[in-house]
Amino acid sequence: PADVGILAMDIYFPPTCVTQDALEGHDGVSKGKYTIGLGQDCMAFCSEVEDVISMSLTVVTSLLEKFNVDPKQIGHLAVGSETVIDKSKSIKTFLMQVFEASGNTDIEGVDSTNACYGGTAALSNCVNWVESSSWDGRYGLVVCTDTAVYAEGPARPTGGAAAIAMLVGPDAPIAFESKLRGSHMSHAYDFYKPNLASEYPIVDGKLSQTCYLMALDSCYRLYCEKFEKLEGRPFSMSDSDYFVFHSPYNKLVQKSFGRLYFNDFLRNASFVDEVARETLAPYASLSGDESYQSRDLEKANQQAAKHLYDAKVQPSTLIPKQVGNMYTASLYAAFASLLHNKNSSLVGKRVVMFSYGSGLTATMFSFQLQEGQHPFNSSNIVTVMNVPDKLKQRVEIPPEKFVETLKIMEHRYGGRFYAKKD
Ligand code: ACO
Repeated sequence: PADVGILAMDIYFPPTCVTQDALEGHDGVSKGKYTIGLGQDCMAFCSEVEDVISMSLTVVTSLLEKFNVDPKQIGHLAVGSETVIDKSKSIKTFLMQVFEASGNTDIEGVDSTNACYGGTAALSNCVNWVESSSWDGRYGLVVCTDTAVYAEGPARPTGGAAAIAMLVGPDAPIAFESKLRGSHMSHAYDFYKPNLASEYPIVDGKLSQTCYLMALDSCYRLYCEKFEKLEGRPFSMSDSDYFVFHSPYNKLVQKSFGRLYFNDFLRNASFVDEVARETLAPYASLSGDESYQSRDLEKANQQAAKHLYDAKVQPSTLIPKQVGNMYTASLYAAFASLLHNKNSSLVGKRVVMFSYGSGLTATMFSFQLQEGQHPFNSSNIVTVMNVPDKLKQRVEIPPEKFVETLKIMEHRYGGRFYAKKD
């Protein structure tokens, strides 16, 4: 099959949210720390009536209904999540309720887990299945679902929650450029959840940021090498119309794009202009390690890349800024924002995606956007997702109530048979 990729998408996030502005006041931090410092506007969270299962059931049902896909047409269902509901039973099996009702129990695939990367692993599994000799002509379905909650402290405002469903098949409007990808995987303790009695991670914030940027550099270098081998000319940022990043908080996305610009400067890419060259020249001789620690370099990169950021990155930042870190769904919610903002003007465009999961696993890959055929085209996806209404219909909850809800969830966490009806 040709042009395997994403045919359709839908997103769900909880209607309950807390504004970062109100949270700053509540936490007693300096004004602007979360809104400007982290670059976040608002954060969604699950109240006690929602979880990753309910969110993913909602989004799967909605996608099938709105794109008129018969549940019998799904042959592979892969879930990415790092939210533990059960240490053995996969989230995928909960979702089988939707398919069993139609008599379809012949669906491969289970859950993939590694921090925020599981969604990308699930997506590659589905794409690989459609491209393989075991493909039976039916669709793949990928679900990314997480609730991101942190203990009190500086990481708490970087939470969020959402579920995304993506239908996978051939002749897709969002087609994978399968030959172009670079991965970086290694052993690190930047963010992890060793305490099985708690939903909260242990996080070394600074280390996680450095690990993210190191993985980004490594993936970008490999992506560029693959491109050059294939196309016979060097790749630079000018070869992609948009860059979409895993988005724990917007400031890291700004830093990441700046970092790619610095890579292009070091690679002597012709599009890096004179002014930028002069700005970045003092940092050219820094060692790798020094370059991750230099705040001056970080600022210089962001400054030099600012005009390109507005064109190539900003359109993908809407949902992550409004909803927060959605872990596995975060990268795809950023991509959904790009679809929403640019819609059919994306046809013919390349979009580079960077997926990162702490611990750590990372991949850079890209999509080529195409016309598609109704109902599988970007305009229809944008209509179905209806992001503006979903954002508008939310209810702002006061921070005190948000904190109270988290306390209830802490207490309930791991409660045996809580989810079992009989
Ligand atoms: N106005 C404007 N900016 C401010 C203000 C203010 N009043 N106060 C602080 N800032 C800025 C800081 O200068 C800093 O910006 P910079 O990085 O551009 O210099 C930024 O706000 C953050 O402040 P810090 O004090 O450096 O960091 P903090 O202790 O608040 O922690 C962190 C931030 C590390 C991101 C924390 O929220 C965290 O650990 N989050 C979870 C980890 C995470 O998401 N890692 C990303 C990859 S792993 C994953 O996806 C889970």
